[in-house]
Amino acid sequence: MQAPDLMHRLRLVAAVVNAAGQTALSRFRSRDFTVSAKGRQDLVSDVDRTTEASLRDSLTNAFPDTTFLGEEGGGTVGDLAWVVDPIDGTSNFVRGVPHWCLSVGLLHLGRPVLGVIHDPNLNETFTGVAGTGAWLNGDPIRVGSARPLSEATLGLGFNLKSDRARHAGLIGKLISHDCLYRFMGSGALGLAWAAAGRTDGFWEERIMPWDVAAGLAIAEAAGAQVSDYWSSDCWSRGNSVLVASQGLASAFADLTKA
Ligand code: IPD
Ligand code: CA
Ligand code: CA
Repeated sequence: MQAPDLMHRLRLVAAVVNAAGQTALSRFRSRDFTVSAKGRQDLVSDVDRTTEASLRDSLTNAFPDTTFLGEEGGGTVGDLAWVVDPIDGTSNFVRGVPHWCLSVGLLHLGRPVLGVIHDPNLNETFTGVAGTGAWLNGDPIRVGSARPLSEATLGLGFNLKSDRARHAGLIGKLISHDCLYRFMGSGALGLAWAAAGRTDGFWEERIMPWDVAAGLAIAEAAGAQVSDYWSSDCWSRGNSVLVASQGLASAFADLTKA
């Protein structure tokens, strides 16, 4: 299959995602949604479901050569596939914390080639296209420059499928090196913020494809060193993810080792 016309697709996808984000934002601000539990510490709102349905309709209609997989409604991953988390950071969303996003990645033959992460609260849209570049609201972004661990910050994620001892051990190691960390509750924004140099990287021990599909495309296009996430396990149980600025990639890889 030929590489798709990614820059042309990007403009359309960003417009679709921004429009869906406006609707989700007005529901968030008016507190007009219902919440149910999918599991312990794993919530879903009706905004997650309706946002995903609207993205599914818009993207598969606009691009008939694509398949669609969403966190809430499932789907299939063909040669060219949208992998979508309609609201990443749902635990923030339901508690009124304005740190959540819509995350839309495009996989070509199983690898992310395009990503759009839209944060409606800050009106920030992070985009990236493999081999071309990464942008925040249209302006180019780059990962952070080289600095020692003692001046660095690593974004972290944690969920109840993660290995608790490994996560706690990493925090111990980071602080023993005077390295700071951020724990914000949205893996997709964690990757986007690393891509924009707001942190020096992001790590989570067990994270699902819809959390990272867009963020890995953006981070790689912004010059990040990206771990090999896409082994077959990632679709069933999730996988670990590490992105890092070039200067800190080997230090973070050592610290996050099992
Ligand atoms: C979760 C968030 C969280 C991460 C979890 C994800 P959700 O996604 O990204 O930061 O630690 O692994 O499942 O449930 O808000 O879409
Ligand atoms: Ca998610
Ligand atoms: Ca979600």
